[in-house]
Amino acid sequence: MTNSNATQTLTQPSPEGNRLGELWSILPEHSSVDEQGVLHIGGVSVEHLAEQYGTPLYVYDEAGLRGQIRRFMSGMAERWPNSEVLWASKSFPAAGMYRLAAEEGVSVDVAGGGELRMALAAGVPPERLHMHGNAKTDAELSMALDAGIDVIIVDNEDELDRLERLLTRPQKLMLRVIPGVEAKTHASQATGGDDSKFGLPMDQAVKAIERMRAHPLMEFEGVHIHIGSQILEVEQFAEAVANLRSTGDFATYDVGGGVGVKYTYSDDAPSVDEYLDAVVGAARTYLPADAKLMIEPGRSIVARAGVTLYKVVTVKHTGKTFVAVDGGLADQMDAALVGQRFEALVANRATEPWTETVQLVGRQCESGDLLVDQAPLPAARVGDLVVTATTGAYAYTLANNYNGALKPAIVFVADGEARLVARRETYDDLLATHAPSIG
Ligand SMILES: Cc1ncc(COP(=O)(O)O)c(C=O)c1O
Repeated sequence: MTNSNATQTLTQPSPEGNRLGELWSILPEHSSVDEQGVLHIGGVSVEHLAEQYGTPLYVYDEAGLRGQIRRFMSGMAERWPNSEVLWASKSFPAAGMYRLAAEEGVSVDVAGGGELRMALAAGVPPERLHMHGNAKTDAELSMALDAGIDVIIVDNEDELDRLERLLTRPQKLMLRVIPGVEAKTHASQATGGDDSKFGLPMDQAVKAIERMRAHPLMEFEGVHIHIGSQILEVEQFAEAVANLRSTGDFATYDVGGGVGVKYTYSDDAPSVDEYLDAVVGAARTYLPADAKLMIEPGRSIVARAGVTLYKVVTVKHTGKTFVAVDGGLADQMDAALVGQRFEALVANRATEPWTETVQLVGRQCESGDLLVDQAPLPAARVGDLVVTATTGAYAYTLANNYNGALKPAIVFVADGEARLVARRETYDDLLATHAPSIG
C-alpha cells in the first residue's frame, strides 16, 4: 500500500471552512491527505487500515515514534553528555513498542512485573532497565534481581526490608524522594506534592539513604523525582531540579518524566528542546557538574505518533447531535478519567467544511463516555471513519473490557506499509481466564 496519491500535507493552509491546517501539529508527523480528502498516516490511507484491520484501531506513525526518541536522546547527549534517557513504558506497554525502544537504544523504565516481562520478552537488554513502583512485591523484586536489571528505584523502607532479604549480589539502587512541587496538572496526574503516595519526604529519605549506604550489597546511586504528568510549563521542571539539590550530593539524579503534549488547538506545549533547555539549564545551576542526569519521558515520546481510528455506528439528532462510534471509554479512558480534551476529524472526508458541532460519543454504558465534547465536524454519516488525534499515550495502557469491549489491535505504519503489532482481542480471549464451566 503506497502513498502515491497523498498529495496534501497538513502543513498547507486549511481548506475553506475547516481547520485541517491546524491539525498538523496534533496529528502524527507523517500525515497527509489525498485528493479525495482521505487521511494517510505513514503513507497508508485510513480507509485501507480500517478495511484490513478493523476498527477501533490504534494506529502509530512508526517513524514519528523513532524520531521523537532520537530527539530526546541526541538533545540530552548534546547538552549533558553524562546522561541517560529512559522511555517510561507505562505510556504504551506494547511488545512492539518495547522492541522499537530496544532497536533505538533508549533505556526503559518499567513499573511492575508485567512491564518487566514484556520488556525482556521484546529484547530490551536488562542493563537498560529501571524498575519503579510504590508497592513492589517480593515476586516483582525477585524478577528484577534475577533478570539483572540496572537500577531499582526504591520507594519506601518496607522495600528495603524486602531487598535485604532478597539480595544475594550487589544491586544499584536509587531512592524516590518527594520534591515538594505542586505540578500544575490534573490532580490525579500530580505526584510531586507533599501529600504524594510516591517516595519519601526528605527527613525520611536521609535515613533510608544511610541504610542503603551501610549495606554491603546495596549500591546507592542517587535520587529520583517525578512531579507529575502532562505538565505544560517547563519552569516546573526547573523548580524540581533546584529542589533536588537540597537532597544532597549524589552520583546520579533522575528528574522523571511529565512533559506535556499538545492535545488541542489551543494547548501550548513545549518542544523537546525547550524542555531539555529548562531541565539541563537548572541542572547546570544546581547539580554537581560530574553527576549523571536522567530523564524519563513517556507521554511526550508516544502521544503524538498515535491516533485512534473508529467507524461511525449511528448519528442521532435529539436537540444535540450525537455521533456514536464503535469504540469509547473502553479504549480511551483519559477523557472520562482526567477530563482530557482530544480533537477529532472525519478522516475519510478530511477536507470538507466543518458545518456541525457534535457530541462524539462512544458505545459504553456511561454518559461520561464522551470522546469529544462539542467536536466541530462535517455532517457525519454512518460508516464514516473518525480519527481522534494524539491518543498514542496511555490509551492502550488503560484499555479495558467494559461492556465486553475487545481491546483494539495496534498497527505501526511507515513508508506506505502497515504491520500488525498487537491483534484485536477476540470473544474467546474474554473467556480465556475464566473457569471452564462458564466457558
Ligand atoms: C516514575 C515515572 N516516571 C516517568 C513517568 C512518565 O510520565 P509522562 O508520561 O508524563 O512523561 C511516570 C508517569 O506516571 C512515572 O510515574
